[in-house]
Amino acid sequence: MTRHLPTPDSYDYEWVALSDARFAPDTGLIRLSWPDTTMLDVHPTWVAENTPVTGYDTVVNEGILDVREAPTPSDVAAVTIDDEGALAVTWSDGGSSKLHPGWLRHIAENKHLPDSFLPDRVKWTPADLAEPISVDGSDVLGDSGALEEWLSALVGYGLARLVDAPTDPDFLLDLMKHVGPIRGSNFGDLFSVRIHESPDSLAYTGLNLGQHTDLPTREIPPGFQFLHCIENTVEGGWSRMTDGLALIDELQTNHADHYEALTTLDWVWFNRQHNDDHRWVGPVIDHGGPHSPVTFRAFYPVRSFPAMDSRDVSRAYAALCCLNDVAHDERFQMRFAFRPGDIVGFDNRRVFHGRDGFDPGGGGRHLRGCYLDSDDILSRTRVLRRRTQ
Ligand SMILES: [Fe+2]
Repeated sequence: MTRHLPTPDSYDYEWVALSDARFAPDTGLIRLSWPDTTMLDVHPTWVAENTPVTGYDTVVNEGILDVREAPTPSDVAAVTIDDEGALAVTWSDGGSSKLHPGWLRHIAENKHLPDSFLPDRVKWTPADLAEPISVDGSDVLGDSGALEEWLSALVGYGLARLVDAPTDPDFLLDLMKHVGPIRGSNFGDLFSVRIHESPDSLAYTGLNLGQHTDLPTREIPPGFQFLHCIENTVEGGWSRMTDGLALIDELQTNHADHYEALTTLDWVWFNRQHNDDHRWVGPVIDHGGPHSPVTFRAFYPVRSFPAMDSRDVSRAYAALCCLNDVAHDERFQMRFAFRPGDIVGFDNRRVFHGRDGFDPGGGGRHLRGCYLDSDDILSRTRVLRRRTQ
């Protein structure tokens, strides 16, 4: 039965029958058409690579063809659609390929690209988002709908909160088992943000923490950070968040020279500790490659050396002053208190975070934190959203 054709993934595709398929020897491509005039050009070698059994292993859904041994356009004997509208190719050696037209259709609709099934990114300022979007976390381990809602808001806004989650200090570990592997760091897999007698970070004091992003000392800083409030009885210590996407808009529009300096002048980021020596060189606003998300490298405690022409250092500092002005501007900076049971997640490469100072002797404040890479957050979000869309 043609309609049971496997596809090289774990998803079910609606059967969208082709209306035509024809090979063009001059281009070496097969042109696929659907009744609504949607079209897709595919290469014969790629068709062979995506043929069940001969092109990919149908258990692990990974390709098995050595491209040197795969059919080429000159090996195409016939191209047609079968009785039910699937692509059917016959090869000159007598072999054949049959591909699911609904799976081909999802490629024609660009649903195979990384942004597929992810929410649109929504830029925000406190004027349109006064507090993080909040989702009931009381049963998040048993409610994949709550998890999907929270992760969707997290990916879209770069910031989202679970409220009323359990306050067990290890709950964050249990929750992340449903999301993805924790990305450890020199602060451990799960770290406690509270007063340390011998702090190795300003986070472990009661000092004000200016707006920043964590671990710019890494080639790829952690994608997302999670902070779980176990206890909070101190005065002050409010959390502050600034959306880097809104900040980029403001810099581009009103501070173009500073924006240019922030995106082009490099610094050495270096955690100068007894047993750790992480270093990376890059600009404060790192646009990376054409498919990379923006990465802010903005943690002044580890901004260690200018790595630029010495004549550029003055304008680099001026640009940092401007960045700090905008990042702390009330028009861009959201403020909220942590309550026990809150789990605040944020995109550490996009959203700046900071904290008001507090009196360490005035009560207890204990947050448990961890990082996850963006890849794992986005993967879990796609899996959850694909199942319900
Ligand atoms: Fe931080």
